[in-house]
Amino acid sequence: MARKKLIAGNWKMNGLLADGIDLTKGVAAEVKAMGKPECEFLVCPPFTLLTSVKRALRGAKVALGAQDAHFAEKGAHTGDISPVMLKEIGCQYVILGHSERRADHGETDELVNKKAVAAHECGLKTVICIGETLEQRDAGKTIDVCSKQILGSVPDSATAADTVIAYEPVWAIGTGKTPTAADVEEVHAAVRKVLAKKLGKGNANKMRILYGGSVKPGNAKEFLSLPDVDGALIGGASLKVADFIGIAKNAGC
Ligand code: PGA
Repeated sequence: MARKKLIAGNWKMNGLLADGIDLTKGVAAEVKAMGKPECEFLVCPPFTLLTSVKRALRGAKVALGAQDAHFAEKGAHTGDISPVMLKEIGCQYVILGHSERRADHGETDELVNKKAVAAHECGLKTVICIGETLEQRDAGKTIDVCSKQILGSVPDSATAADTVIAYEPVWAIGTGKTPTAADVEEVHAAVRKVLAKKLGKGNANKMRILYGGSVKPGNAKEFLSLPDVDGALIGGASLKVADFIGIAKNAGC
């Protein structure tokens, strides 16, 4: 089963209106110029830019995603955004359980799971993030940690159509450090095995598992040509059109 690669940009808390629109227009123009790219594209700007970015993407084959969502449809949750609100303004995806949310906001596997169920219920696709800390890696616990996060964070009802997994070693995010290609493939293959046990082989074989953590044009080919790597979740390099598109091109999109 061929899995179409997903090239996803996670802008994090970056982008004021003018810069965000420039970036969007640049990405949209490059993707249009690619004609029929072999990959799917996704950009995940901060909440404040979602509507404007949606407008600037018009006609381009680039999906729109948010970086988090609450599990409730509405109610007394000051500062939160519900999945229904995201769906209404044209989001197709939402990133959930990014390590920065797990660390900064104490998000647990259980919470991420609840958010994912709610997102799927209103028709959003989820990018569910997992990954080990350096301490866990040094203790040889990478596969254990990632397996536990998959079992806890991914709903039992998840399918390859509504869920994408992103493996992002915490120590590789924004640091310029990366695991070896062999390490990445080992984790992705192990994650797929856990997904097969949890969701069935059919779903696991079709589900995309992205690698994230200091992906750049220079290492894109190395990681994205691995058999179990189905795209990338890109932070820093997604803020520059040339880098984001360079990653896609070097990945064979
Ligand atoms: P990075 O971030 O590409 O800047 O390392 C990746 C991410 O956190 O999704």
